[in-house]
Amino acid sequence: MKVIGFVASPRKGGNTEALVEEVLKGASDAGAETKMFNLSKMDIYPCKACRYCKDNEGECAIDDDMQSIYKEIKEADAFILGSPVYMWQMSAQAKLFTDRLYAFYMTGFEEKYGKKDMVLIFSQNIPDENMYSKYFNYTKKMFNFLGYNVTDVLTSTENDVPGAVKNKENVMNKAIEIGRKLADLWNISFQPNFFQKVEIGSALKMEREIIKFFPLFNHSFNSHSTGLYISLYTQL
Ligand SMILES: Cc1cc2nc3c(=O)[nH]c(=O)nc-3n(C[C@H](O)[C@H](O)[C@H](O)COP(=O)(O)O)c2cc1C
Repeated sequence: MKVIGFVASPRKGGNTEALVEEVLKGASDAGAETKMFNLSKMDIYPCKACRYCKDNEGECAIDDDMQSIYKEIKEADAFILGSPVYMWQMSAQAKLFTDRLYAFYMTGFEEKYGKKDMVLIFSQNIPDENMYSKYFNYTKKMFNFLGYNVTDVLTSTENDVPGAVKNKENVMNKAIEIGRKLADLWNISFQPNFFQKVEIGSALKMEREIIKFFPLFNHSFNSHSTGLYISLYTQL
């Protein structure tokens, strides 16, 4: 399994970076291959709304560092987006990245490259942990709508000083746990034992029968198969 972390804070040794690193560490402990990129060090231009991607199977016309990110995301099973809260929202670096994900939207990306799991991380200074909860939830829904499966949203407050979060044991523990869960979900869904394989086999047979009679369900079944395997596993 491959997990990529994207840090959208320009501060080296900052809190966002520390949290993304910790989630990646959790994933790596659970067997994942990990990589981290700092978006503020990369040349990423805003989406031009040219819609080239829509006529070219999700390929973006802008020749910048986002091209290597597209490749990484295609090859990954999950990714993390970490952003500081700037003016009640994600940072500009995170927004450029997010807008450019429009290239994959409605281009058959999921069928070709699989449904990607995703974790969202926000670091803020305001102590009130509910201050932006509506925005965080709204952003989670937006990424779900874009086609990603947001498994967790991790937030941390009072992080004015770079690296302050490293002294917050509960947040760091949550981060590592989220990373482990990300890799465990993947392990569960793709490495079933013999009995689980039999169960999955019969579920898939049933799926095929239903699709025979109701071909319109085909797409929706494909995209929900992973969820089906996981729910089967947890029932066993
Ligand atoms: C331009 C700017 C805008 C900010 N806006 C907010 C804000 O609206 N709410 C908040 O709680 N903190 C705000 N902050 C503080 C950062 O969110 C906070 O320090 C965060 O932990 C920084 O993350 P980092 O250490 O990864 O850079 C702002 C900081 C900057 C530089």
